[in-house]
Parts: sequence; structure tokens; C-alpha cells
Amino acid sequence: RRQLFLGGAVAGVGAVAAVAADHALNAAPMAPGAAAPLNGTVTIPFHGAHQSGIDSPPTAHATFIALDLREGIGREELQAMMRLLSDDAARLAQGVNPLADTEPELSLVPARLTITFGFGPRLVDRAGTDRAPRSWLRPLPAFKVDRLEQAWSDGDLLLQVSSDDPLTVAHATRMLLKDARRFATVRWTQKGFRRAHGSEATGTTMRNLFGQIDGTTNPKLGTADLESVVWIDDKSWLAGGTSMVMRRIDMNVDKWDRLDRPGRELAVGRRLDNGAPLTGTREQDEPDFNHTTTVGFPTIPEFSHIRRARSDATHERIFRRSYNYDDAPSDPSMISNTGLVFISFQADIDTQFVPIQRRLDDLDLLNEWTTPVGSAVFAIPPGCEKGGYIGETLLA
Ligand code: HEM
Repeated sequence: RRQLFLGGAVAGVGAVAAVAADHALNAAPMAPGAAAPLNGTVTIPFHGAHQSGIDSPPTAHATFIALDLREGIGREELQAMMRLLSDDAARLAQGVNPLADTEPELSLVPARLTITFGFGPRLVDRAGTDRAPRSWLRPLPAFKVDRLEQAWSDGDLLLQVSSDDPLTVAHATRMLLKDARRFATVRWTQKGFRRAHGSEATGTTMRNLFGQIDGTTNPKLGTADLESVVWIDDKSWLAGGTSMVMRRIDMNVDKWDRLDRPGRELAVGRRLDNGAPLTGTREQDEPDFNHTTTVGFPTIPEFSHIRRARSDATHERIFRRSYNYDDAPSDPSMISNTGLVFISFQADIDTQFVPIQRRLDDLDLLNEWTTPVGSAVFAIPPGCEKGGYIGETLLA
């Protein structure tokens, strides 16, 4: 059934035709083994001006790993490490075995695998070049809401491994870590997920584990708007790169359970069913922050998350690409350990991300149910061409 439906959708045939095909198929089941478009063979190019895994549609799974450099690792070793890891990543992304692949069959299903590298402040220091790090390449300022744990914070080298197939993510991660272990040790690992590939139409905005549609006002993929928010456009070693902020944010779903539906919608300023602002009817409607209720209160409260996160300054924007987590509770009295591996990309952390986070720190009703427990900042170098490696603009 699914095969014909997909075929219809790919050929651009409308939903009616797909449903008709679905019915026809009920009468005559498709022969097993018939050709079907398989997502497992879909690849995203590793090489290019920008690193992959940022401006492509998010995959169903992602693992984020931060590594600490071993003592004595300097520029030469960093070069060797990044050459090796870039080669692995380029091969894996194309569904080709990296060198010394111990389970070669596992590399053959990339399922839109991307591997993105980020450099923490200490790695850039160790590179020992005169190519100065940006002022924003340092831990974020402290916020009142923070309850940060070292075990979830900072790091020298970031690997973002994402694919629609969790087996692929696990294997790619292991291959990269095997090659990295001479140079670095694992500091933290965070696994995240979204809806499974094929569960919803491509382009559907994700839902987080509070049930909210999360990502509506993000710059749209493939637009000049996204390019201007995300990519660094100057003559430095980071030209064509960007910055990543990772915030591990605990979401207290047990406390959220005690809030009724209207209260939940007021906390964010959007409806839960379709993500429309409380002043609109469709997800993409512009919120009207001047609209008031019949008794004169703002329809979208001043304390709501979208009111506080929005700035009048047009440059204070970020591109969010977060993943949900749902881990085993560490405390036997709890049934959930749930949250968001909040990820945002922006050309400049100080001028784009920090003002938003400061406003949310001062006032945001959502803070009642959310707590940042981890935080890290990485410079994301530009992409590289075949034969090159990620980080060459800093390390070569
Ligand atoms: C909007 C949830 C943390 C920045 C939203 C929306 C939801 C949401 C449901 C509305 C739909 C949308 O436009 O995406 C959450 C949850 C968080 C969280 C559950 C924590 C667990 C953060 C953080 C930041 C942030 C840490 C940045 C510091 C934004 C921005 C918007 C937004 C900029 C768009 C506001 C606008 O309409 O202009 N968030 N968010 N959020 N959030 Fe968050």
C-alpha cells in the first residue's frame, strides 16, 4: 500500500489519486519485492561551500557528540585528525565504506546521513594560528534560568551525526570515534529524534514533547533570508561557516501535565492543534501582538514565549534545528527525563542569540516548565571541496 502511495506522491499525483490507488491495492496486493523509492539510498553531498546538516531538511535522528582534545594535541595533529574525519564523513555520506570499516554493510544505507563538525574555543586555541577566534567563541554568559551540569556542557570538537536511520547514525558515530580516539576523548553524547521519516509530509514543522509545533517562524530552507541569518560572510577563516549554540533543556512534562490546554496555549502564544498564533487561524499567520481581548488584555500575553522571543531588531534572529530527547530517568521517583537538544545556527552569537536568550531569561512563562541543564558553543567552519578537509581554513 505504502509503495503505491509514495509513487503517487513522488509523481505529483494528488491525494485523491493516491487514495484511489490505495483502494485499488486493497483489492490486488502488490507483489513482494516490487520497486519502491527507498529513503535509505538518498544521499546529501558532503562537499560544498557550506557544511552539510545545517540547511537541509532535518532528519529523524541525530546524535551530538562533544570531544575533549588529549594533552599535547597541537596544530599538526589537528590537521591529521580533521583530514581523517573529513574523509570518513565524505565516504559515509555517500554510502561508501570508510577505510577499515569493521561492519561494511552498515555504511551502505546513508538515509540522508550528514556529519557536521564544530570547533570549541580550546581547539581554536590549540591551532595556535594568528587567525583569531571570534569574540563569541566562548561559553555563553550566565543566565538566571541556567542549572548547567558540566557533564552536558562545553567541548573542543563537536560531531553532529544525523540520518533518518538510527542504525546508520550509530555506525557512523562509531567509525568517527574510532578514528578520533588517538586525538580526543568523549565528553558528552546526546541523542535526539523527530518524527520517523514518512510519518508526516516532508516540510511539516516538528513537534516537541510538550506537543507544541516548534519551528514555525524559522527562516525557510533555500531562501536568502536563511543565508543571511546563518552564514558568515567576511574574509575570515569562518567565511561560509556559522556558529552553533547547543542548549540541553529539560522539559518537566509531569508539571506540564497539570496545566490545562488554554494555559498551555497562553504560555507560548500559539494554538496546540495547528500552531496558529492566538490571534490567527493558520500556522503561518503573523501574530498580532496589539490585539486585545474583550476585557482589554493582550490576546497573546506579554509573558508568552513568542512575544518574548520576538525582537523588533530584524538582525536578532536565529535558525533553530532542535531535536527531542527522552532518556531513562535518573531518579526512580520520576517517570520522565524529557527535553530538547536545542540547537541554533546564526552568523553571530553575541548579536543574534544572546539578546533573545536574555529576554527569555528576564521573562518567559515557559521557564516554569523548562530548565537549561547543558550549554555549549561551537564555530562551524565552512565546507570543503573533494580532497580538502573541514577546518583547513584554520589549520592549513
Ligand atoms: C518560538 C518552544 C526554547 C527561541 C517557539 C515556539 C515554540 C517554542 C512552541 C513557537 C513556534 C515557533 O515559531 O517555533 C520552545 C521550547 C523551548 C524553547 C519548548 C525549551 C525547551 C527556546 C530558546 C530560544 C528560543 C532557548 C532562544 C534563546 C525562539 C524563537 C522563537 C521561538 C526566536 C520564534 C519567535 C517568533 O515568533 O518570532 N519556541 N522554545 N526558544 N523560540 Fe522557542
